[in-house]
This record gives sequence, structure tokens and C-alpha cells, in this order.
Amino acid sequence: MQTINVAIFASGAGSNAQKLIDYFQKHSQIKIALIVCNKPGAGVLTIAQNEKIPSLLIEKEQFFRGNAYVEELKQHNVDFIVLAGFLWKVPVQLVKAFPQHIINIHPALLPNYGGKGMYGRFVHEAVIAAKETESGISIHYVDELYDHGQLIFQARCTIEAGDTADSLAQKIHALEHEHYPVIVEKVIEDLQNRVK
Ligand code: GAR
Repeated sequence: MQTINVAIFASGAGSNAQKLIDYFQKHSQIKIALIVCNKPGAGVLTIAQNEKIPSLLIEKEQFFRGNAYVEELKQHNVDFIVLAGFLWKVPVQLVKAFPQHIINIHPALLPNYGGKGMYGRFVHEAVIAAKETESGISIHYVDELYDHGQLIFQARCTIEAGDTADSLAQKIHALEHEHYPVIVEKVIEDLQNRVK
């Protein structure tokens, strides 16, 4: 099987990006080839530097009203895109250039607590405010709508009476770190098997 080059898109601290990098470090067929970030100074850029992975800092104008960086991604031979805490909506142009080849992780049980403005801490605050007894993670294909594409995987956690947005965030991060790399690997392998 030929090497599949993965680009991780992230906007923040990048703990999921780090887990993905660690998991695929010695993988024979899947390589984290590029880190794409929209936020100068974001932790994920330091991770890229430490791990000696090329990074691409993207700008709003070119992303939403230009070529959506399709050519740059092709120049880096990117085959597959993994969103890991990436907070901009993915433009249609990019979705069309990578059909069924972009996946996202969302820190709640979609279709609940998704959509515009529902990211990171805001998700956990809304879940706690609604007195939910469980939350979880959703991994899904990306289409042109926020948190909308076909679901691939969900995992759940219980919310206890004393839980806060912070303690829930910790539980969710633990679930993400446990499952995201494994699911990314499975999705890419399934794609490869379909091509064969
Ligand atoms: C993760 O919890 C991820 O699910 C969430 O941002 C966090 C990034 O953490 N993504 C969204 O809310 C997307 N709607 P990280 O930077 O430590 O990986």
C-alpha cells in the first residue's frame, strides 16, 4: 500500500494532534505530513516544530474567498484531512477537492450540541447547563455544513452531579485521545481497501 499523507487541521492547543502524531510515528503506511493552523501562536504550531512536521498557517481571505488552499495541500501531497479542534468551517471547495477524505471530531453526541459557535468549552457549558447525564464524542465525515456529515463513531461518558465544564472537558479529552487515532487509522484503511 502506498503511503497516505495526512494533514491535521487545528486551531488550538493541539492535544489531539499530538496523540495522532504519536500514534502514527512509526506507522508503515500513514504519515502525518502537514499541520494546518489558522491561529498564529497556537500550541499546535509549537508541536509541529518540536516534531519537525511542516506547518502551514492559513489566512481567512484565501481560505474562504480564494482557492481554500487546495493547491498548497496538493503540493504537500496531502491525501486525507483530519480536523482536530479546527474552528473554521471547511469551505465547499475544499470538501469537493477531498470528497469523503475529511473527518472531524466533535466533543459531544451529535446531532446534539453541534453547529456554529458550538466548540470546545462552549459545548461543555451547554451540556452541563442542560443537566444532561451523559455526553461523549462524535467522529464524522465533513460536508459543507457545521458538524453535519455522516457519523462514523461515537463514545459516551457519564456526567456526575459534581461535574463542571472543566471536569467534563477532561473526560471528553480522554475519550478523544483514546479513540481518534484508532478511528482515523480504520477509516483510512477502509478507504484503501475500497480502492483495491
Ligand atoms: C477538542 O475537544 C475537539 O473535540 C474540539 O476542540 C478540542 C480541541 O482540543 N473541537 C470542536 O469543538 C470542534 N467543533 P485540542 O486542541 O487539545 O486537541
